[in-house]
Amino acid sequence: MQSDNQSNIDLNNSKTVKQLREKFSELSKIHMRNLLSDVERNKSMAILTDSFLFDYSHEKLDAEAVELLVKLAEERGILKKFHSMFNGEKINATEGRRVLHRALRMSRDESLTLDGVDVVKDVHSVLDRVKQFSNEVREGIKTGHSGKKLTTFISIGIGGSYLAGDFVYNSLKSHPTYEKLSEGSELRFLANVCPIDFSRAVKGIDFEQTLFIVISKTFTTAETMLNSRNCKQWLLQKYREKYPNLSDNDVKSIISKQFVAVSTNIPETDKFGIDKENVFGFWDWVGGRYSVWSAVGALPLSLVFGSDIFEEFLRGGKSIDDTIISCKSIKENIPLMMGLIGFWNTFISGKTTRVILPYSQALCKFPNHIQQLDMESNGKSVSITTNKFLNYECGPVVFGEPGTNGQHSFYQLIHQGRNLSCEFIGHSKPQQDVKYENELVSNHEELMSNFFAQPDALANGKFTEEELKGIPSELAEHKSFKGDKTSFSLLLKELNAYTTGQLLALYEHRVATEGFIYDINSFDQWGVELGKVLANDVRKILAKKVVGDEEYKKFNSSTSNLMKFFNENKI
Ligand code: F6P
Repeated sequence: MQSDNQSNIDLNNSKTVKQLREKFSELSKIHMRNLLSDVERNKSMAILTDSFLFDYSHEKLDAEAVELLVKLAEERGILKKFHSMFNGEKINATEGRRVLHRALRMSRDESLTLDGVDVVKDVHSVLDRVKQFSNEVREGIKTGHSGKKLTTFISIGIGGSYLAGDFVYNSLKSHPTYEKLSEGSELRFLANVCPIDFSRAVKGIDFEQTLFIVISKTFTTAETMLNSRNCKQWLLQKYREKYPNLSDNDVKSIISKQFVAVSTNIPETDKFGIDKENVFGFWDWVGGRYSVWSAVGALPLSLVFGSDIFEEFLRGGKSIDDTIISCKSIKENIPLMMGLIGFWNTFISGKTTRVILPYSQALCKFPNHIQQLDMESNGKSVSITTNKFLNYECGPVVFGEPGTNGQHSFYQLIHQGRNLSCEFIGHSKPQQDVKYENELVSNHEELMSNFFAQPDALANGKFTEEELKGIPSELAEHKSFKGDKTSFSLLLKELNAYTTGQLLALYEHRVATEGFIYDINSFDQWGVELGKVLANDVRKILAKKVVGDEEYKKFNSSTSNLMKFFNENKI
């Protein structure tokens, strides 16, 4: 006999999961076009908030399936787990850490005391420093070494120290209000260690007006450190070309005025030569992929837009945290429902690929960030309760692309190939729009026509004799659409800093919800370590001018062959 605790962990043995599977097989016999003909059902699957509408009526679900998912959430103690997370328990047990990104968006008048320290106070003291620093740069009080205003900000960082920042920047930069606020300044990202990324990042900039922001939680990440050292050398070289007699003090002043860091590793930022007062800290309870809410996002985004806009983004995120806490019913709790639907699709329905489809160019980087958020969090295979391998696979493969570009790329497979779970995201009010006199609709209306048409096309399909009438028989099947493809839609009233924060927090909590159901630790990332270690061995060989055969023998014949080919052709 298994104990309650154990049987609760083993999803495959869960009675509710078995019921969900039976439900799925029952629903598989009902076509989506039939499900969608039920007005009451559709109504029950739309949740309206002040700023967006979440509609999951195009998912293969009925009221009973939803009830079962809610039951599973209750059995798995999802809300209790969120409370443990929000209260600062060390739920990231494999790293012995708390998971407290929520504290980053708590307001000044709230408090959360851990080991005698009010972390909300700490959070706001860093935010205050970011505000002061960014205001002084924006007002030209803090300048570069030669006294010129700093207007180009290069954010150096990778993974969690890059992706969300790029997403938020893109989400906001074309909004008319923020566009004005950022006039005359530019934010660039340098993430990849690929030299092309470096040369593009520094191309065409005025070195005297550039501020480098090194973002690295650990300040040891190989790519970020090499890029930062390169930027330092590049900057000094540019100064030396223009001012040949640079003194040691000048060099110090250049680094001190044009390099800042966001990190938890002060000894290393010190070694790099960054002034203590130019280091903005955060805490080990902020996971990399959640760190955009800390100085990681606050500093670059406040420099380019002003700190008020970042605060608005934080308020958006907080509104979703508050939903988790205050929502009376799981069915109304949108991030939880998104997680349950995700679980339904991946685990019960076997749709292991999730595609994020924002109908907004401003959200072009959202899928990239969600790839990391989802796959680094839930790409796991060990139970956090038993510390043993699970007997099931967790988490979906995630990719995406803004509509309508995606339609002309991979939608073929979604319509007539595999079963994917689709997530449509759009906003009613455009950030920018174009409509010339003779056009029937504006560009935004044209874009959004597709946002509404695609979920229906996927769900309804086109396959009856009547619908295929007139098509030559040999082409009939080629041109038929079985439909029955599922999706949900998230429609924002508008895309601004607040709703960008909401969107991100929704996805963060949906990913956590799924991880809690799977009984994994969604907050570590041991899977990225092995590759890093092996790269150390290769690096030593690539650094040598001449490599003896013996040294290649440390690698298997395939890899040594590839390395030899590389070494012979690299110049
Ligand atoms: O390789 C993955 C990762 O560890 C992420 O989790 C993290 O966000 C990123 O690398 C960068 O780490 P750091 O901020 O320490 O440079």
